[in-house]
Amino acid sequence: MAFGMAIGLAIDGTNGMVIGMMLGMIFGMLFFDNDDENDEKEENAMLNYAVFASGSGSNLQALIDAQGSVITAAQPVLVISTKADAYALTRAETAGIATAVVPRSEGMEDEISALLEAHKIDFIVLAGWLTIFSNEFISRHNERIINTHPSLLPAFGGVGMYGMHVHRAVIAAGATESGATVHYVNEVVDGGDIILQKSVAVEVGDTPESLQKRILEQCEWVILPQAVQMVAEKLNQEKTSC
Ligand code: GRF
Repeated sequence: MAFGMAIGLAIDGTNGMVIGMMLGMIFGMLFFDNDDENDEKEENAMLNYAVFASGSGSNLQALIDAQGSVITAAQPVLVISTKADAYALTRAETAGIATAVVPRSEGMEDEISALLEAHKIDFIVLAGWLTIFSNEFISRHNERIINTHPSLLPAFGGVGMYGMHVHRAVIAAGATESGATVHYVNEVVDGGDIILQKSVAVEVGDTPESLQKRILEQCEWVILPQAVQMVAEKLNQEKTSC
C-alpha cells in the first residue's frame, strides 16, 4: 500500500493530490502484495527437512505420522541412510519420500552436501544416525541439525553411548528415571543445546529392551515431532526478522 501511495504522489504532482494518492493506493493494492501479507507468507513458509536414519526408522515414522498435525511448518523430503538395507528407507519409500544411501567413506560429507542442495534442505534431523560429522560440516549447518538421543542428557551421552549401550548403562547405574532428549548438534557429541526432553520411570525388572521400547513410545515419538515443528518455526521467524 505504501508503494501505491508513493506512485500516487509521483504521478500527481501538486494538483489533485488526494485523487492521485487514491489512484496510487488502488494501484498498489491491485498489483503489489501487502507488506504484512508478505511477512505472514514468509513466516508460514513450508520448510524442507532431511532425516538421516540408518536403523529401523521408527522415529522417522513418528515424523511421517505427525505431518499435518503436530508438524505444519516443515515437511520431510529426503531420507539418507548409510545402509542400503535400513528399514527406514522402506518407510520413506512407502511415504513417497526420496531416499539416498550414502555409505561411510571419506567423501561422504561432500556427497551429502550435494544431496542437501539438490533437495533444497533447510534443516536435518538425525534419528538413528551413528556417523559423527566433521566440525566443518557442523558449523556450516549451525543450528540446522538436530538429533534424538535416548537418555536425559547430559546423563548417559557422549562417544560410545548409543542404542542399547545407553539403556544398559542406565540400568547398571540403578537410575530411577530415564527418557529422551532432542538437541541441536554441535562439535561436542550429544553436547548441543537441548530443545526438548521427556522422562519415564525406570521400572523394577526393566531390561534394556523394555526400557528402550518405553522410551521410544512415550518419549522419542512424542518430542521429536514437537521439536521439528519448533525448529521450523524458529527458522521461519529468523527469516522474517533478517
Ligand atoms: C533411537 O533410540 C534414537 O534415539 C537413537 O537411535 C534410535 C533410532 O531408532 N539415536 P529408530 O531407528 O528411529 O527406530
